[in-house]
Amino acid sequence: AVERTLSIIKPDATKRNLTGKINAKFEEAGLRIVAQKRIKLTKAQAGEFYAVHKERPFFDELTDFMASGPVVVQVLEGDSAISKNREVMGATNPADAAPGTIRAEFAESVGENSVHGSDAPETAKEEISFFFAGLELVG
Ligand code: CMP
Repeated sequence: AVERTLSIIKPDATKRNLTGKINAKFEEAGLRIVAQKRIKLTKAQAGEFYAVHKERPFFDELTDFMASGPVVVQVLEGDSAISKNREVMGATNPADAAPGTIRAEFAESVGENSVHGSDAPETAKEEISFFFAGLELVG
């Protein structure tokens, strides 16, 4: 079925000018970028987005990092978009990411891992509406 998922190109990647290369990976996999904007999160906004991780030992590091520079938030659409996006990203830790995946090619560490993607239909819906109004999604 056609799905939509929320993707974030993280500060380590925007800093290295990798937005186009990462978008090419999504498009080559058949995912369509139906909404996209470059924004700078505050630490508080990053904390709200990652609220599910607030008890984790890496929460402070994660929210500092996500507020450290611009991010590109985007909505990807396509057949099985949620799992397809996760395949194209590769494992969270770049050391475990399959060759050819975004994280294998570009990520610097488990924290600075270039991209985020929603993990399930329910979270995709929540994460998309965190950043985008319905009118901003142009399929
Ligand atoms: P993401 O998919 O954006 O969701 C939560 C993020 O927490 C994850 O990607 C990682 O970048 C980050 N993360 C997970 N484990 C660690 C860790 N041990 N240290 C720092 N960041 C982590």
